[in-house]
Amino acid sequence: MGTSGGSGASGPLVLGIETSCDETGVALTRGFTLLHDSVASSMEEHARFGGIVPEVASRAHLDALLPTLEATLAAADLPLGAIDAVAATAGPGLMGSLTVGLAAAKALAMALKVPLYGVNHVLAHALVDQLSHGPLPPRTLALVVSGGHTSLLVIEGAKVTELGQTLDDAAGEAFDKVGRVLGLPFPGGPHIDRLAREGDPHAIAFPRGLTRRQDLERHPFDFSFSGVKTAVARWVEAREDAHESFNVHDVAASFAEAVADVLVQKTIAACRETKIETLVIGGGFSANSQLREKAAKACADAGIEARIPPLRHCTDNGAMIAAAGAHAILHDINPSPLGIGADSSLPMTELVATGQP
Ligand code: KG4
Ligand code: ZN
Repeated sequence: MGTSGGSGASGPLVLGIETSCDETGVALTRGFTLLHDSVASSMEEHARFGGIVPEVASRAHLDALLPTLEATLAAADLPLGAIDAVAATAGPGLMGSLTVGLAAAKALAMALKVPLYGVNHVLAHALVDQLSHGPLPPRTLALVVSGGHTSLLVIEGAKVTELGQTLDDAAGEAFDKVGRVLGLPFPGGPHIDRLAREGDPHAIAFPRGLTRRQDLERHPFDFSFSGVKTAVARWVEAREDAHESFNVHDVAASFAEAVADVLVQKTIAACRETKIETLVIGGGFSANSQLREKAAKACADAGIEARIPPLRHCTDNGAMIAAAGAHAILHDINPSPLGIGADSSLPMTELVATGQP
């Protein structure tokens, strides 16, 4: 193992490559110490289409990957030859985008004769917290909330169990769609958050999906956000059709309240049911102020330790993938065979892709 870089840090030098959506992220960690993290985003190219265009994203990764890798190595002042392991997102994500990063990772692993870890993007959103708050305890509950996923997971070292997930829209996706209804720029999530901070969260009673007694029996830890999204759209359209003015801050705040309320209620119930006392909240949507506030309060009341990575590690980045690689090495998870392909629906139970059907 190389010894240069990250003075005082120990562990394998892991290169992390993230290309599942619109961000090309490359990072180097030594164990759980982040040495450097570079991210190039193609969001500006997608914004005018009001959503991510997969083909545009793949081409942007092709353009950005090598410069981002070179920038990371230069900033960490390390040669390629010092790398002990290569981790890249194997899935879930956009097929073309994933393939660009994974192909580069395979080539590097082969040339450097080091192991390849094709890691799970959703789990990496939780595992990245170890770069800020140290290794996870033996049992951790993870709530991963992003533009594509809303998942409740139990992480026990190498073993992952999925307790629940969204049955339709992810929380971030619902925010982005409501953003479109309100005429906000894409992605709407952060704009709704900003508007919500000046509104009354109790002004409008929007529905809380899958929280009725009969729903809780069948789907205690699953989510559904398409109902609340549609309810907000109908509410706004009805006011617009009637040429009635309304307070957009109140709409944003009431919508954000409904989403954060369900996320926090179900997550705390899952902690109680599994008797787990450490919660990690990850993914781009964990930047959401209403969710952060509610979760912090509910966890304090329930005696649960809440760990939330810093904002820059919540959105997609290479550091989360390197951290997932370091986690896999720490817990003796086998590297991926070089023949693995990208898997747009990689199961949550596969922290490292095995290539097995
Ligand atoms: O994890 P991420 O960067 O990409 C995916 O893997 O999906 O998450 C992006 C999602 C978008 O839907 C974006 O609108 C949402 O996270 N988001 C927010 C906030 N910041 C990002 N949603 C609500 N409030 C925020 N502050
Ligand atoms: Zn993500």
